[in-house]
Amino acid sequence: MPKLSVIGAGTMGTGIAQVAATAGWDVIVNDTNSDILEKSSASLVKVMDRLVEKVKIDQATADKILGRIDFTEDQQYFENSDLVIEAIVENLEIKQKVFKAVEEIVREDTIIASNTSSLSLASIGSALKDPSRFVGIHFFNPAPLMPLVEIIPAVQTAEETTKQAKDWVDSWKKLTVLAKDTPGFIVNRVARPFYGESLRMYEEGVADFATIDWAMKELGGFRMGPFELMDFIGNDINYTVTETVFASFFYDPRYRPSFTQKRMAEAGFLGRKSGRGYYSYTEGAEKPEPTKDSKLGQAILDRTLAMLINEAADALFLNIASKEDIDTAMTKGVNYPKGLLKWADEKGIDWCVEKMDALYDEYREDRYRCSPLLRRIKAEGKTFY
Ligand code: NAI
Repeated sequence: MPKLSVIGAGTMGTGIAQVAATAGWDVIVNDTNSDILEKSSASLVKVMDRLVEKVKIDQATADKILGRIDFTEDQQYFENSDLVIEAIVENLEIKQKVFKAVEEIVREDTIIASNTSSLSLASIGSALKDPSRFVGIHFFNPAPLMPLVEIIPAVQTAEETTKQAKDWVDSWKKLTVLAKDTPGFIVNRVARPFYGESLRMYEEGVADFATIDWAMKELGGFRMGPFELMDFIGNDINYTVTETVFASFFYDPRYRPSFTQKRMAEAGFLGRKSGRGYYSYTEGAEKPEPTKDSKLGQAILDRTLAMLINEAADALFLNIASKEDIDTAMTKGVNYPKGLLKWADEKGIDWCVEKMDALYDEYREDRYRCSPLLRRIKAEGKTFY
């Protein structure tokens, strides 16, 4: 079995270690902070205890998995690793410094990967002497539970590196998709309108949080409404992702963040973790009732869905990923009820173009421009599948 080293024993590093060790790999978990290493180790013991309690695995298996994971502050132990995955703080300079040091320790054929969600892989990889062995391996939180992993080659990445990384992660029973090194990769790009268009409708007074959430869940089949989901993710984190994606896209208005969410984050109304976000999470707090007006609900769903489909179509148009991978990413990375391009076929490509054009005519904002690919498919009378 190949050997993995994980740099960063936080939320993601700990989860990734669990995934690989469960698949039979020996894993070294490294962090600069010994308290965090202890916490990581203790949390894995707890997770295994819970899995044994729930009869998902037996005690012997749990012991074996835990026995495969070592925790250390010393990166010298990486020397025999086949794969190194970095999951430290989201800061380019720090990541580059860490990779430079790691490259001096590992073998020449060791694959070096980053779990970054928002930095360009080209920029991280540029710190390496041999960036052809560097690739993005982007897990979703919680890593042991979310099936999707985005594999992102940088411009410098060798084809064999991408293939080997994908094969290894597939062998960990994850579902991998290939994405281009562009802001937000697939999921964090295509999902932007789910939040952005809901916030926009709220700001325009189309409906309140509860009604928008109700429409998306009840009529759209989404597992959580956008405001519930933003409260779950944390308004600080979700706002930062939006702002980063917006800046990285050279301020394309389609990704513009919302003042509503910015103010929520500034006020400390972060969501569940702070006890208050769009909703209150204090004990006994009652959830506001939605206005269950089916015409209004359908309008809310249609506007958001058209924007989501448009974003997915544009990702395909710009070769960010294949249509299958775009649909898999959204159903397995963020639990959408259907792949967006499949959904486009069901609604009809005419419907998608008409919805986008109606929004554009009303607002005259670049935000609502229809993807050229939707227009092309419409003109050819085709569908995505
Ligand atoms: P975290 O804050 O939970 O953990 C980061 C860990 O890295 C900390 O324990 C810190 O002590 C350690 N660290 C910092 N500098 C280090 C160094 N030089 N050497 C070794 N360890 C060092 O962060 P989290 O949430 O696990 O995120 C890590 C990475 O994963 C980031 O790049 C983030 O963008 C990405 N990511 C996060 C997701 C999430 O939902 N939290 C999802 C997907 C990717």
